[in-house]
Amino acid sequence: MQLLFLFTLLASSFDSDGREIFTCYTYKTVAEYRPNIKQLQILLDSSNNSACSIFPAGVNINVTIGSVDFATIVPAPNFPPYSYTITNFGYSNTSVLVIEGFSLPDDGTGTGDEISIDYLLIEVYSYAEITRIEILEMQTIISSLSECFYAAMPVTLTQNYLTIQMNATGLCRIQISSLDSLHITIDGNAYSFDMTNLPLQDLATNYAHNKFFSIKLTPPGVTPLAFTTLKPNWDATGYLITKSGGIETRIDLQFSSVKYTSIAGFYSNPFMALNDGQFAFTTVPIFAKVYQLSVTMAQTGRSYNNMIFRFQVTTNGQSRTFDYHGMKYNIYITKFLFSCSDMPSNEQEECMKFYKLVQKSDNVVVTCSGLFYSNETLIGAQHDTIPYKRQQWERTFFITEDDKTCMYLESSNTKFTFDPTIQTTFSISIAKRLNATSYGVNGTFVFNTNYNNSDKVCFQNSTLQDLVETDYIATLVVTHGTNTFYNLFWGTKDGDIKKNMLTAYIILGIGCFAAVVYSLSGFVRFQKQLKAMKKKKTV
Ligand SMILES: *[C@@H]1O[C@H](CO)[C@@H](O)[C@H](O)[C@H]1NC(C)=O
Ligand SMILES: *[C@@H]1O[C@H](CO)[C@@H](O)[C@H](O)[C@H]1NC(C)=O
Ligand SMILES: *[C@@H]1O[C@H](CO)[C@@H](O)[C@H](O)[C@H]1NC(C)=O
Ligand SMILES: *[C@@H]1O[C@H](CO)[C@@H](O)[C@H](O)[C@H]1NC(C)=O
Ligand SMILES: *[C@@H]1O[C@H](CO)[C@@H](O)[C@H](O)[C@H]1NC(C)=O
Ligand SMILES: *[C@@H]1O[C@H](CO)[C@@H](O)[C@H](O)[C@H]1NC(C)=O
Ligand SMILES: *[C@@H]1O[C@H](CO)[C@@H](O)[C@H](O)[C@H]1NC(C)=O
Ligand SMILES: *[C@@H]1O[C@H](CO)[C@@H](O)[C@H](O)[C@H]1NC(C)=O
Ligand SMILES: *[C@@H]1O[C@H](CO)[C@@H](O)[C@H](O)[C@H]1NC(C)=O
Repeated sequence: MQLLFLFTLLASSFDSDGREIFTCYTYKTVAEYRPNIKQLQILLDSSNNSACSIFPAGVNINVTIGSVDFATIVPAPNFPPYSYTITNFGYSNTSVLVIEGFSLPDDGTGTGDEISIDYLLIEVYSYAEITRIEILEMQTIISSLSECFYAAMPVTLTQNYLTIQMNATGLCRIQISSLDSLHITIDGNAYSFDMTNLPLQDLATNYAHNKFFSIKLTPPGVTPLAFTTLKPNWDATGYLITKSGGIETRIDLQFSSVKYTSIAGFYSNPFMALNDGQFAFTTVPIFAKVYQLSVTMAQTGRSYNNMIFRFQVTTNGQSRTFDYHGMKYNIYITKFLFSCSDMPSNEQEECMKFYKLVQKSDNVVVTCSGLFYSNETLIGAQHDTIPYKRQQWERTFFITEDDKTCMYLESSNTKFTFDPTIQTTFSISIAKRLNATSYGVNGTFVFNTNYNNSDKVCFQNSTLQDLVETDYIATLVVTHGTNTFYNLFWGTKDGDIKKNMLTAYIILGIGCFAAVVYSLSGFVRFQKQLKAMKKKKTV
């Protein structure tokens, strides 16, 4: 509600020979402005002046807004009047003038709903008569409280606080100024915040058009790790309560996303690949990011002695979770393999069905969650979404031909056709078997070629040739224009593919401070982890 200056000395500009009729309406006449539906309503308070009954049904209405020049006390309209016509006017029975399509001009102050005017003059006139209504009081009213903020309203959860980012439309200034509390429910847990919270005081005081608020709140009485979450994404709802003159109003907030804030770019080129009924995940953490995570966890005053790597694969509404239960200091695990053939026999079919579904799908979401525990307490979480590109080749292996190293690319449901006139880049990283328990990564080989969709492609590099002479594990990243294909495969010399060579293992890596030069320091029996994995698995 805002008081406007009574305007007293309007120099009449009624340039027809019309007659002005005074005091048709009292000073109790009020204007209500609904900016979101661009409607101005003049709630007329009739003074029951019989002289005013002279107006015909068809009248024109001019709405003039402007500001008072205090030096001269002569109102100086900032804008030309808005003109409207209505056809069913009657002095005795018209109690409200509804002006559709009305909006305040942008006066350059960016204040939107702020009625940056000092008076509002309504002129009702016919060809012969005019009456003027000076508005003393103007209210901005929102017909829909859902428009108090712009739609993008992300919520982020951090260990012990939440942050709501909101941009004000400015449309709810009157309501928000009497803000009473914020209520938010995150995965079934309800939290309430009252006006003792400074960010809410700030919102109530400074709410205005296009103003950005980052509201950071720590729930009272919850553990310092309240939001250290097992999941990357959450369900949350929230609303504001405003209280004015005993009237309580609820303003629902529409969160655009609710996420746990993880360290960005934690892994170097992570991906999921499918090969021979196995889900293979490659996640090489970047040292600086690991350090950053450690610092965050150190703030809890504890160190982790247990961890879970959790991969969730979702496609077409179905999802499956793969858990690896690691032990202390195994953050540098870099490759995980989960094989359907290692499942108990009654689950293998179901697993393969899911595998085939993923293989065929274009829309696969893979999340990787690193969960760090101090005994039973979760003290850190890192959630990432990692890419999966539909598998281009069902089976891949090396074969040597004279001085050439060739890759067989066995297509099954090949979808993409390479354009041989465009360059294709094959980037191959190889780990060679060192002894019974270790593989060592020897580097990355990059070849550019005009690949023509044949099932064999050959390269010449004596180092590469040496590496594929014995057991190897390889990752292949093929880029062709904007398309990228990932593949993870393994084998021995001349295509003697030991399909099940790795199915019973998880490969552990340590010290991978550089993206591609890391070493794989041995194996951990996969079977040991299988029990835990089955427990956690969901379909
Ligand atoms: C009403 O406003 C229009 C312009 O929008 C103007 O031409 C007209 O003269 C005004 N009428 C009165 C009575 O002020
Ligand atoms: C005008 O008449 C109405 C209805 O008779 C009445 O409610 C109102 O108080 C009157 N207004 C004034 C200013 O006398
Ligand atoms: C007022 O009354 C007149 C005459 O009875 C009628 O034509 C007009 O539609 C009425 N206006 C409203 C707003 O009810
Ligand atoms: C909200 O405000 C921020 C900061 O001013 C701006 O970057 C962002 O684009 C705004 N978003 C919307 C939806 O207006
Ligand atoms: C973790 O568990 C061990 C063994 O039960 C216990 O000695 C240790 O105090 C626990 N650490 C914390 C931080 O609770
Ligand atoms: C295998 O090689 C790795 C790396 O050189 C070494 O650390 C490990 O002890 C070796 N294991 C055996 C069983 O020789
Ligand atoms: C590959 O790396 C290992 C150690 O990581 C080394 O022993 C071996 O000689 C290397 N092989 C080649 C062909 O470079
Ligand atoms: C083989 O590839 C490696 C890695 O790209 C490169 O350093 C080396 O010079 C190449 N060797 C030959 C003989 O081309
Ligand atoms: C595709 O390339 C391979 C190897 O470069 C070659 O042997 C083959 O003839 C080519 N096929 C076609 C259809 O051009």
